Amino acid sequence: MPGPRIRSYARPKKGTIKRLIKSLWKHFKFELIISLITLFVSILVNLCGSIFASLITQVVTNAVIEGAPHVFTGSFNASLLNIIPLKTNLTQLLIALSCIYGLGVICSWTWNRTMAVVTQKYLNLFRIKMFSHMQKLPIKYFDTHQNGAIMSLYTNDIDTIRQLISQSLPNIISTGVTVIGCLMVMLFLSIWMSLVVILGTVAMVLNTKIIGGRASRFFVAQQASVSKVEGAIEESITGLKVIKVFTHEEDSLKDFEKVNDELYGNSTKANIAGNIMMPINGNIGNFMYVFIAILGCILYLTPGTYNLSLTGFREVSPDVFYGLLLVPFLMLCRMFTNNIGNFSQQVTFVVMGTAGASRCFDLLDEISETDDGYVTLVNIKKNPDGTFEETSERTRDYAWKHPHKADGTITYTELKGDIVIDNVDFSYDGKKTVLKGVSVYAHPGQQIALVGATGAGKTTITNLINRFYDIADGKIRYDGININKIKKDDLRHSLGVILQDVNLFTGTVMENIRYGRLDATDEEVYEAAKIANAYDFIMRLPQGFNTMLSGDGANLSQGQRQLISIARAAVADAPVMILDEATSSIDTRTERLVQKGMDQLMKGRTTFVIAHRLSTIQNADYILVLDHGEIIERGNHESLIEQKGTYYQLYTGAFELE
Ligand SMILES: Nc1ncnc2c1ncn2[C@@H]1O[C@H](COP(=O)(O)OP(=O)(O)OP(=O)(O)O)[C@@H](O)[C@H]1O
Ligand SMILES: [Mg+2]
Repeated sequence: MPGPRIRSYARPKKGTIKRLIKSLWKHFKFELIISLITLFVSILVNLCGSIFASLITQVVTNAVIEGAPHVFTGSFNASLLNIIPLKTNLTQLLIALSCIYGLGVICSWTWNRTMAVVTQKYLNLFRIKMFSHMQKLPIKYFDTHQNGAIMSLYTNDIDTIRQLISQSLPNIISTGVTVIGCLMVMLFLSIWMSLVVILGTVAMVLNTKIIGGRASRFFVAQQASVSKVEGAIEESITGLKVIKVFTHEEDSLKDFEKVNDELYGNSTKANIAGNIMMPINGNIGNFMYVFIAILGCILYLTPGTYNLSLTGFREVSPDVFYGLLLVPFLMLCRMFTNNIGNFSQQVTFVVMGTAGASRCFDLLDEISETDDGYVTLVNIKKNPDGTFEETSERTRDYAWKHPHKADGTITYTELKGDIVIDNVDFSYDGKKTVLKGVSVYAHPGQQIALVGATGAGKTTITNLINRFYDIADGKIRYDGININKIKKDDLRHSLGVILQDVNLFTGTVMENIRYGRLDATDEEVYEAAKIANAYDFIMRLPQGFNTMLSGDGANLSQGQRQLISIARAAVADAPVMILDEATSSIDTRTERLVQKGMDQLMKGRTTFVIAHRLSTIQNADYILVLDHGEIIERGNHESLIEQKGTYYQLYTGAFELE
């Protein structure tokens, strides 16, 4: 079994956070302003709360010293940061404190709620943006990116962005403001004691950088391991039958154990580092608390040292020192260290969120499929004299509408289905040549069959006609028009394609057939099913055309799925058809029946048929034999048999190519 899917965990691009914030701001200015205002008010409330707490201490201390019995009603001296003298009592202070905290609750509820709503709305937009951009990406993108990795952008990575926007960024803003606010007040109260706080902070930052950095690295590695585990599970579910057939359950388990062990290792290291960081920071904070208390007392007992405090008070009584300086300072210090701890916790989420956002932006930055086409497909009404005019009705006659930029005129070319591939070379990856000098001339109404061994390049030719991949200018012409000039949607509208891999979607049989042309009536769907010879088996399904198909049509046989895809092409009723191995899984008896329907479908239309069973293409106007990307023989069945070349050998030898 191939190894599990591995996502690339390249460093996040620079400026990712800036880009994220910019795009948030673009969509939710009003909400973000409300959020920021209420966030700032909540921070202010917290700071005020601690100042009020110190006022309460002063009042209570004074009440005790003055021996007054009416601490709730009496009037006591207090001072706001030793600047504004106040005469107040406990009742007034408690009412003020309640009002302040009440306001705090309202603000904090508002910003939390607003951020939660903004985040979800933003992620909703983000997912839609990614999905719609993904649909515009060239097929090449999906050749080079694994499904699992793309899918986990929508789950894992989006979730790290949620964490970043709704928790980490607001937390960092609030922490930053609180820390600065605390520091200013602390400096105001005592420079010496603030110095202890600053030293302690340096230690905490170092701890965060060293141990937190380690944790972040392992958390990002853990994310990579999660996606590997997801890949292994996904692969073993999709390949379940193959695993069972070859009895590889043991190996599959071993593969799983390997990635699971890696996840275990990374998560353990990440969590150990993460869990150590917080207690270390917490203990640094506790030490600071004790140091400050001791330092405060030393300062108090050493005359002449207060002048280092900006408050400039000296020779104060112990109660003033205690209530006005030490208690508020210690409270602020607690708040300060809590916030620094909080900040260090967010670092990991920021690293993970930035990495996730960077990968999502990478998807959005992928260059979408270019479409410089300006020639469009229009319905026309034919007049008896052979002329025609454009109409909005569905007439089943079409023309290419070709506006000329130079003189502003428009010319119409009737769609005939003349497709010329002129000496095309092609490579998927720019290294290995897949097609060499391939020329195909399909005249209107002709049936062109492509045969050749597996990997010869048959599907590749059709990939170029419907422009899944682009080639250099001018090599493929459709009714004389360079297909690069035709709008991709219109080009594909003109082609009824049955792809080699049948894809059915979750929905009813009716809906799956109607996928070929969304405005088809029920009768048209029934008709198409009859052409494809699918009608009978569909009617035998439990709910007939209303039977739900799920899991890519898992409840149908391979041949039945092919019949539905033929019906889908029949309902599309396009003027040119491309049928890639349309009947490969159908039994020979049914095939003969389907062939009749297909002949009817192909009548009058240019058709490219790819078939391994040569019996199905004997009536083709031209048969092209491909070998390693080159056309080695061409002609109709009889002339090729006469040539007695490769085709003859294939036909007389095995009837089937390998
Ligand atoms: N998306 C792709 N990226 C790179 N190489 C590709 C891609 N698709 C096909 N090829 C290569 O191009 C060559 C031709 O493939 P193609 O699918 O055209 O073969 P085919 O003739 O349709 O074979 P089959 O009969 O098995 O369907 C193969 O060698 C294949 O490895
Ligand atoms: Mg093929």
